[in-house]
Amino acid sequence: MNLYEAIFLRQSVRQYSMTAVAPELLKRIGSFYEQIKPLFPGIKTEIGLVENTDGKWRAGGIFGIKAPYFLTFYSEVRDRAEMNAGYICGQLSLFMMTEGLGSCFIGTAGLREIPSVRADKKLLMVLAFGLPKGPLMRRAGDARRLPVSELCVYKEAPKRWMTQVIEAARLAPSYKNSQPWRFVVVGRRIHIFSKKEGMDKPKKWSEFSFGVMFSHIAVASEELWLEVDLIRLENVSQKNFRNNQYVLSAIVKEQGENAE
Ligand SMILES: Cc1cc2nc3c(=O)[nH]c(=O)nc-3n(C[C@H](O)[C@H](O)[C@H](O)COP(=O)(O)O)c2cc1C
Repeated sequence: MNLYEAIFLRQSVRQYSMTAVAPELLKRIGSFYEQIKPLFPGIKTEIGLVENTDGKWRAGGIFGIKAPYFLTFYSEVRDRAEMNAGYICGQLSLFMMTEGLGSCFIGTAGLREIPSVRADKKLLMVLAFGLPKGPLMRRAGDARRLPVSELCVYKEAPKRWMTQVIEAARLAPSYKNSQPWRFVVVGRRIHIFSKKEGMDKPKKWSEFSFGVMFSHIAVASEELWLEVDLIRLENVSQKNFRNNQYVLSAIVKEQGENAE
């Protein structure tokens, strides 16, 4: 299974076997993190590992998640740091799937043992992970997600690869499955909007979720031999989705194709 295939099979895993995993596998997670190209390369980040195979800790109180490992994600506090964090953590979660590990984003609250600051960086996310007690995967059709017709307006008949990129974005996990994103696709451009109600929820999680969704666009584009640039355009119309706020545009093109 590769990262792209993992998009279609991934689900949040909340029940874990407390068995330890091979140290080499933990190292591979670290190496994978090291080679991820961040969304905003100027923002310094680092990850840590908290082992909990003795089951001492449960994130989020007694009804919370008991996992054998917690990956901690720290970042400099900068504009768009949460989006950058979501982009990196989204890929980490997919990578864990390819290695047979389940994971679940659990925010930052609820584990006193994890320091919220590390030198010049702040804790932005904890990813619970380990071998799942139940099934690791599910079929894409079983994911509770809004249909494409509610999320996306195609201004013209899309190329097949564009529908594949949108499908990968649609399947992205989000805080409380809020799926705050909306898309208007014009040719090779995906204009991305945020539902205003989504912004009432803690903004941090909305921005983080957008980062996770962008990681799905990036992984799908790489798999399909597409190049993708995320840019902010100044003249994008908001009229397709009332109550939505413009976030960014993804310009997707086939490799070697000239930009318009
Ligand atoms: C930013 C973010 C924060 C999340 N926080 C929690 C959490 O605190 N506890 C939890 O059980 N799940 C949490 N989740 C997981 C979501 O509830 C889950 O991804 C969503 O419901 C979709 O389900 P799926 O991941 O199984 O596809 C979080 C997800 C994201 C992206």
